[in-house]
Amino acid sequence: MKIEGKEYRTIWFDDKSQTVKIIDQTKLPHQFIIKDLKTAKDAINAIKVMEVRGAPLIGGTAAYGIVLSIMERNDPNFIKKNSEDLIQSRPTAINLKWAVDRVMKKLSGVNNNELLKVALDEANAICEEDIKFCKNIGLNGLKIIEEIYSKKKDTVNILTHCNAGWLATIDWGTATSPIYHAHQKGIKVHVWVDETRPRNQGANLTSYELNEEGIPNTIITDNAGGILMQRGQVDMCIVGTDRTLSNGDVCNKIGTYLKALSAKDNNVPFYVALPSSTIDWSIKDHKQIPIEERNSEELSHVEGVDENNEIKKVRIYPQKSKSLNLAFDVTPAKLVTGLITEKGICEASEKGLKGLFK
Ligand code: MRU
Repeated sequence: MKIEGKEYRTIWFDDKSQTVKIIDQTKLPHQFIIKDLKTAKDAINAIKVMEVRGAPLIGGTAAYGIVLSIMERNDPNFIKKNSEDLIQSRPTAINLKWAVDRVMKKLSGVNNNELLKVALDEANAICEEDIKFCKNIGLNGLKIIEEIYSKKKDTVNILTHCNAGWLATIDWGTATSPIYHAHQKGIKVHVWVDETRPRNQGANLTSYELNEEGIPNTIITDNAGGILMQRGQVDMCIVGTDRTLSNGDVCNKIGTYLKALSAKDNNVPFYVALPSSTIDWSIKDHKQIPIEERNSEELSHVEGVDENNEIKKVRIYPQKSKSLNLAFDVTPAKLVTGLITEKGICEASEKGLKGLFK
């Protein structure tokens, strides 16, 4: 998708410099900076500090992390250790493990002198596949927006939480892909963007990328969705997911659950958009999902630009106060109207998912 009219992807391998290029998302929306990742440690750090974030993108970054590891030292123990560290770098999104396992499986039994080429081909393939899947999620989700538009004959108001846009994937996004496709078809859409405290991915990233594509959007506080739904100002919700269980339970950015409860109470359809890479077929109970607990400084401090356009961080809480910063929650399948996937839309249930994927 575009930034200042120029097409970008969130990550790519640059043949000339032999580095992995990313858009540093910690600086958005105030500064647009492309950063080089040169080592596996750089990739691990980029995931940890959230220079890259969003389940599919951290999966792609982890895949390139293996490539960088081989470039640094073509030694099986070194590569294995880096693969473990990459998986551990953020615990909740399943895409990390999925991508690392996929590259490592490709490498098994490959001659030392071919490891780099095989890893790079696989990392590129993971990213190309994600783009294709996100595009298909868009085409499938478009049908829901078209249906609402044909009945309403007026702007379709869509609420989203966190950033499940193209910046969270390689391109198109998951939750935003149906929106981009609708906009391109001339359907009038307007997006309610949840600010998404504490890191404000909605305000800083979703609103930013929608603006760059010319899509009308309004930032709201995380607590405003309920009243908008009661007032009939939300036609549907679409969110992303970091881990989808085979029973249809969905783990996503903290606050998603409360939006789903509100949507249920107000008969607002609540959809979750996902590529199959976020499905965790292995665990059955959402209590087994490792929920990332992040530094409490993300709550106690906020970042923005000062009058000189310089990024500044300030404390907003009493110094002595404690805070708890859980990054994700789980929305039970019974609150989800449907899962929008690259293969079609299904019920949020084992039957629904297996019907499409097994
Ligand atoms: O903590 P983040 O910014 O990585 O969280 C991202 C989300 O929760 C997204 O909604 C999720 O990864 C789905 S992205 C397509």
